[in-house]
Amino acid sequence: MQENTPTQQYQITQKQKLNPQVKLIAIYAPDIAQKAQAGQFVILKTHANSERIPLTIATWDKTKGTITLIFQEVGFSTIELGELRVGDKIQNLAGPLGNPSDIKNYGKVAVVCGGVGTAAAYPIAKTLNEAGNKVTTIMGARNKDLFILEDEMKAVSDQFYITTDDGSKGQKGFVTDVLKTLIAQSSSFNVVYAVGPPMMMNAVSEATRPQNIKTIVSLNPIMVDGMGMCGACRVSVADKIRFACVEGPEFDAHQVNFKELILRLRSYSNEEKLTSQITENFGRPCTCHNQ
Ligand SMILES: Cc1cc2nc3c(=O)[nH]c(=O)nc-3n(C[C@H](O)[C@H](O)[C@H](O)COP(=O)(O)OP(=O)(O)OC[C@H]3O[C@@H](n4cnc5c(N)ncnc54)[C@H](O)[C@@H]3O)c2cc1C
Ligand code: FES
Repeated sequence: MQENTPTQQYQITQKQKLNPQVKLIAIYAPDIAQKAQAGQFVILKTHANSERIPLTIATWDKTKGTITLIFQEVGFSTIELGELRVGDKIQNLAGPLGNPSDIKNYGKVAVVCGGVGTAAAYPIAKTLNEAGNKVTTIMGARNKDLFILEDEMKAVSDQFYITTDDGSKGQKGFVTDVLKTLIAQSSSFNVVYAVGPPMMMNAVSEATRPQNIKTIVSLNPIMVDGMGMCGACRVSVADKIRFACVEGPEFDAHQVNFKELILRLRSYSNEEKLTSQITENFGRPCTCHNQ
């Protein structure tokens, strides 16, 4: 882990590789750190000509004036962000955006998360724990090397379960297998939070639907401005169009049209593939300067 003392706004003060695909960076952003709450996110541009990308505020430290982002390098912009080093500056950072999670003492709560979704689930689980809830965490990943924040999640959970698709750690199978077993054992929940890939959130939603357990998901549609003006983040909830950036990102899972969300997330897959091929063959275009 690299660390230094911040001097400038949006300077990276810490950087850490959490697993082969996921990195953590802490950024000096005192105004955002003062206001951040669980469930909120930022939109950033790494360089002057970079794309705007939304990332959840995983942790914040009001005293140090820093926020932590945890991101999976899935394409051009997240790889570009991952190339920054401690001491480098992020060009633009807007936040905190989105509505904070509706945290209260619900009683028995399950937090179900998958992959890098744990970065967004952690502040929710921590705040639920601080509000006096009995928190059961169910964390899933494809294999044992892909878990992040395991100790942190354990520390804020009363009960803790792990699943892997290949059985290399915890129970072999999916998070929903554990959730369904717990519900069947009559240790039902007052609220279930699910954060992760849309397919997984949809599966959690279907697992809780028969008992009508209140289920909240944090949606991750494509976002551009993050302020309710461009419409990129529109999702259908209870057959109404909602803008996830200003009306979400959390919604009642049982009302979300996941099929449409998944299709819309694939809208630019050809362009994303082309960008990866161009970058592979010709290197990365410079995004450092305004044109
Ligand atoms: C509110 C919110 C919070 C998020 N928090 C996190 C987080 O904490 N950690 C994390 O790793 N990821 C997070 N994401 C997803 C992250 O924004 C995308 O992975 C990132 O934008 C991908 O950009 P790329 O250029 O690297 O990849 P690309 O190759 O451009 O795209 C890869 C995939 O990422 C999605 N994506 C692309 N552009 C965007 C965009 N502008 N907005 C949203 N999704 C996009 C698409 O599904 C696409 O298929 C969050 C998304 C939202 C909406
Ligand atoms: S991201 Fe533009 S309206 Fe939500």
